[in-house]
Amino acid sequence: MKITVVGAGAVGASCAEYIALKDFAAEVVLLDIKEGFAEGKAMDLMQTASLNGFDTKITGVTGDYSLTAGSHVAVITSGIPRKPGMTREELIGINAGIVKDVATQLVAHSPEVILIVVSNPMDTMTYLAHKSLGLPKHRIIGMGGALDSARFKYRLAEALGAPISDVDGMVIGGHSDTGMVPLIRLATRNSIPVHTFLETAQLDEIVEQTKVGGATLTKLLGTSAWYAPGAAVSSMVQAIACDQKKVFPCSVMLDGQYGFEDICLGVPVVIGKKGIEQIIEIELSPEEKTKMKDSADGVRSVNDLLQL
Ligand code: 2OP
Repeated sequence: MKITVVGAGAVGASCAEYIALKDFAAEVVLLDIKEGFAEGKAMDLMQTASLNGFDTKITGVTGDYSLTAGSHVAVITSGIPRKPGMTREELIGINAGIVKDVATQLVAHSPEVILIVVSNPMDTMTYLAHKSLGLPKHRIIGMGGALDSARFKYRLAEALGAPISDVDGMVIGGHSDTGMVPLIRLATRNSIPVHTFLETAQLDEIVEQTKVGGATLTKLLGTSAWYAPGAAVSSMVQAIACDQKKVFPCSVMLDGQYGFEDICLGVPVVIGKKGIEQIIEIELSPEEKTKMKDSADGVRSVNDLLQL
């Protein structure tokens, strides 16, 4: 199994490292445009192999997509990250051109590749990839909900004083500070609804903390987060590579599901060797439906900036 990660920045390098540590891929190609940067990251990561016990071969390359040929999955992390106070949507001017070029190059060298888009504004970048490439819908997936759900579970466990392993929860909707829809109604502590343990005010606080989870870290770090984004996308890569049929909330092109068409939005999907194996339509409450509609309106307004 060959995986390509485009962008050897913090998110891409973390993703490559987590893939290697899970040791399910024969090779990871890490590509960047900055001379020597991906080669250096790959070499440094390979020098952890004997210490961390993995056989995955990580290769770094500058700009030469021929080395990515035959990739089964390719992750697009390239583009600029946001700075404190910026929204993900403000990145579109620069990142749209980068993502379109990267996606086109990847498919040219790996015609059967499954693409996972991480670059922000992610829902719009995923939509751009669909519109630019015309690939089967099941082969282009946006990573946002897996990350947001991990942050949601972190906040739930923190409030509950519970181990993360006892907590489950999902975030759907747009991957934006205002558009996320944490499904607090369905969140559980070992199958018990969390509202059994927490007051409404606490639940509301968890939802708000989740929605700004990325911005909170950007303020602390001075740039976007990378460990959890890298871990989230590497889990999706593993689900494809190992045909796990795992459920993740992902940004996918909707064609009537949830009442939406011609938009990429975070919804629950089964991820396996095909990429998107199934889009799962769950019953949403009236309040959740309204939030999803508002979220979709926000994503569409950013999509409109592409002027496709
Ligand atoms: C985040 O939320 C980078 O969008 C990513 O951290």
